[in-house]
Amino acid sequence: MHDLRPVAADDAPLAKPELYRQLVAAADALTAGEHDGVANMANLAALLWEWLPDVNWTGFYRLIDDELVLGPFAGRPACLRIPLGRGVCGAAAASGQTQLVADVHAFPGHIACDAASASELVVPVLREGVVVAVIDCDSPRLARFDAEDAAGLEALARVIADRI
Ligand code: SME
Repeated sequence: MHDLRPVAADDAPLAKPELYRQLVAAADALTAGEHDGVANMANLAALLWEWLPDVNWTGFYRLIDDELVLGPFAGRPACLRIPLGRGVCGAAAASGQTQLVADVHAFPGHIACDAASASELVVPVLREGVVVAVIDCDSPRLARFDAEDAAGLEALARVIADRI
């Protein structure tokens, strides 16, 4: 397996747009030749875990029969099923809109899978306009995620939509 970690010209941390450009390219390369969705989600969850600083959960929930069902992830064991509309993930799946939550404790109905989580970014994965899954990233740091993280994960979601 190639080393897929982000590379910078010097030791400085990569700016987020460049980090996500490389992450999406790595995700594309990792999933291009594989048609098994579980295998691809497993590697993508690990890729996000390895590349994104200050995260304590990265992974997928799949939308099955109007319910979110836990998919491959990195981090602590999490809720198995989330009703559509419940919590941050359920809001992303129900609306088809990215949910950027600076403080999860201020989000009505937030589902605390890991008490350490303080902020969260959930991006829906759409196939032909229909939500099929969400990508969920949690951080123990308040306001860890911003619009650049959201744009980066949305680009990832577009690339992987037909491969999960
Ligand atoms: N916090 C999420 C639940 C999933 S875990 O974070 C892994 C939510 O409120 O939907």
